Amino acid sequence: MTSYSFPANFQWGAATASYQIEGASQEDGRKPSVWDTFSATEGKVLNGDTGAIACDHYHRYRDDVKLMAELGIKHYRFSLAWPRIVPEGRGSVNAEGLGFYSRLVDELLAHGITPHATLYHWDTPQALEDAYGSWQSREIAQDFADYVSVVVKHLGDRVTHWFTLNEISCFTHLSYSVGGQPAHAPGKRVSRIRDIWQTSHHALLAHGLGCQAIRAASPVPCSVSWVDNFAVPIPLTESEVDIKAAQKAFPNLWTNGGIIVPALTGAYSPALLETLGEDAPNIKPGDLETIAQPLDALGFNIYSGQYVRAADNAQGYELLSIPKSYPRLHMPWLHVTPDALYWGIRHISDTLHRSDLPILITENGCAVQDEVTVSGEVLDCDRIFFMREYLRAAHRAIAEGYPLRGYFAWSFMDNFEWAYGYDRRFGLTYIDYATQRRIPKASFHWYAECIRQNRVV
Ligand code: FCB
Repeated sequence: MTSYSFPANFQWGAATASYQIEGASQEDGRKPSVWDTFSATEGKVLNGDTGAIACDHYHRYRDDVKLMAELGIKHYRFSLAWPRIVPEGRGSVNAEGLGFYSRLVDELLAHGITPHATLYHWDTPQALEDAYGSWQSREIAQDFADYVSVVVKHLGDRVTHWFTLNEISCFTHLSYSVGGQPAHAPGKRVSRIRDIWQTSHHALLAHGLGCQAIRAASPVPCSVSWVDNFAVPIPLTESEVDIKAAQKAFPNLWTNGGIIVPALTGAYSPALLETLGEDAPNIKPGDLETIAQPLDALGFNIYSGQYVRAADNAQGYELLSIPKSYPRLHMPWLHVTPDALYWGIRHISDTLHRSDLPILITENGCAVQDEVTVSGEVLDCDRIFFMREYLRAAHRAIAEGYPLRGYFAWSFMDNFEWAYGYDRRFGLTYIDYATQRRIPKASFHWYAECIRQNRVV
């Protein structure tokens, strides 16, 4: 029997991101981001939804923070909108933009909630897209670092937990494509695969320069981290051979070999570079040193993993396709794989040999088809089921000695789910978009009880 209790200092939190919740897209000097442009383009986002109003958090942040305090979280991960703070992407600073985050941070601190700030969660200033094709240009890395310096100088007296970029692969490999229509902004066609790897290489550079900028600008010691959603191979059985197979697969899955591997080890995966050949990005001398900055923690966003087993073939493993009837929640990719949380942590510690690196689950949660009952409740036992299983996997990682330090539920509230607009609800809090009414769901109350008892209930 286990009580699934967590260590006393375990960080219970929830997460959001600027473009997904703030709205007020044209207020107080904010200029458009690539997501404003993309979502305003017909056919890009389901139902033509945009983030122009979203959860109106920009105006309702005080009530939202109050609700966070009711939830009982002691940690809140949010992101800052670059085009609110440096509206042209580089150059002049918009004091009103900084003012909003300053008030938000004060409000959080007043409620005993530690702010964890992500400096970039996909809302690139449109001006940089117009100026030089944003992530297609190396210039963006320095512009990002300059913006980071501004933010950290201004908020660093009160914010001491920083994340550079959120999920590099999603705003590079899902935003640029050869032939297809990319699902994410700016949604550009490029002529060759190499151009896509070049965007993620530039993002890695931005991350590295961003880390240096945070450390240089912070008035007090702080935690410097980033957030990745690396792909997780789950051994089909926990036999030695399948575990080895999953470890072999790790650097070869999706973008792992070209994103998390260089960021944490200082080198792209040799196998990836060999496979890419002419399509490998142009890496200048010194780039890898810049990219592989020391980190105080790793933010790990985890939703789903992939099963792998040992195989008698050249690569030594086989990736299994997901069966048709595999349990899945309300996104095409949202397979219920709680073991992915455990194995993801284990791969960082064991496969990449970075057991020195504390890990925070910076996002975990699910979209379900929430409905408000006649009595005004949202009884999302499907979300509770999902999160409970993942938290049990988190407990296992800690019990086995892996350095997991905290968990941020995605998301504090329903929000603009990128290309799916408002159709997909990931929140612990239901948003009635017509009235902006907030309704804490059953999962909200369940999560509050987990926090209160410091265990999975
Ligand atoms: C992640 C994103 C986050 C949210 C969740 C569902 O990839 O970081 O903004 O959309 O997925």
